[in-house]
Parts: sequence; structure tokens; C-alpha cells
Amino acid sequence: MKRIIILAGILLCAQPVLAKGDAQAGEQKAMMCVACHGATGKVSVPMYPNLAGQNEAYLEHSLQAYKKGERSGGQAEVMKAYVSGLSDEDISNLAAYYASMKP
Ligand code: HEC
Repeated sequence: MKRIIILAGILLCAQPVLAKGDAQAGEQKAMMCVACHGATGKVSVPMYPNLAGQNEAYLEHSLQAYKKGERSGGQAEVMKAYVSGLSDEDISNLAAYYASMKP
């Protein structure tokens, strides 16, 4: 019994690590983001936001918000079109990828 409790504790602690995105997988998905957000996560068109080095949790949260339609109006519609086909896993991988870039 004691062992099971210890094991459960270890699994619980490991959870946030498992949930972290895979930056390499994110890089593959980012092909379709490059046109607007730049290959280095820094933009040449001032209308688009820089993403390089942004906080991973923030990126994940904002992508989810576009997907769910919680961010709307103005340019948000542009983003919604790109994220609506992404899975939750794709989103966390993309967030990890852009967060890992040098700002
Ligand atoms: C056609 C151009 C275009 C493409 C392609 C595009 N984006 Fe965007 N992105 C934008 C614009 C414009 C905004 C600002 C939207 C707004 O006003 O909320 C934005 C905003 C964002 C934000 C929020 C930044 C912040 O500071 O809140 C994130 C994160 C993001 N994009 C990630 C991505 C990812 C990941 C992809 C690829 C799956 C992608 N974008 C593809 C144009 C684009």
C-alpha cells in the first residue's frame, strides 16, 4: 500500500513535466505560421506580433483562446482560421517551440 501511495505521488509530480510541449514537434507545425510570424519568431510586418521567447504558458493560453473563439474581433479572426485545425498537443508543442526561441 505504502508503495502505491509513493508511486502515485511520483506520478502526480511528474504530470506538469509530461504536459510540457515538444519544441521539435512544434517546429514541424510552425511551417504554416512562418509567413506571418517569421522563421525566427520575429516579424517584418509590424501588424503581426513577435512570438520568439514569449512565455510558453501565455502562448498556449492565447492559442487556445483563438481556437475557442474567446479572442475575437480585429485580427483575431485571422488566427482563428489557423488554429482551429490544431489539436491541444499541437498547440502545446507550438507554444514550446516559440518559447524556446531567442527573443
Ligand atoms: C496570416 C497571418 C498569420 C498566420 C499564418 C499565423 N498568425 Fe498568429 N497572429 C497573426 C495576427 C494578425 C495576430 C494578432 C491577432 C489579434 O489581434 O489578436 C496573431 C497572433 C498570434 C498569437 C498571440 C500573440 C500575443 O501576443 O497575444 C500567437 C501565440 C500566434 N499568433 C501564434 C501563431 C501560430 C502558432 C501560428 C501557426 C499555427 C500562427 N500564429 C499563424 C497572424 C498570423
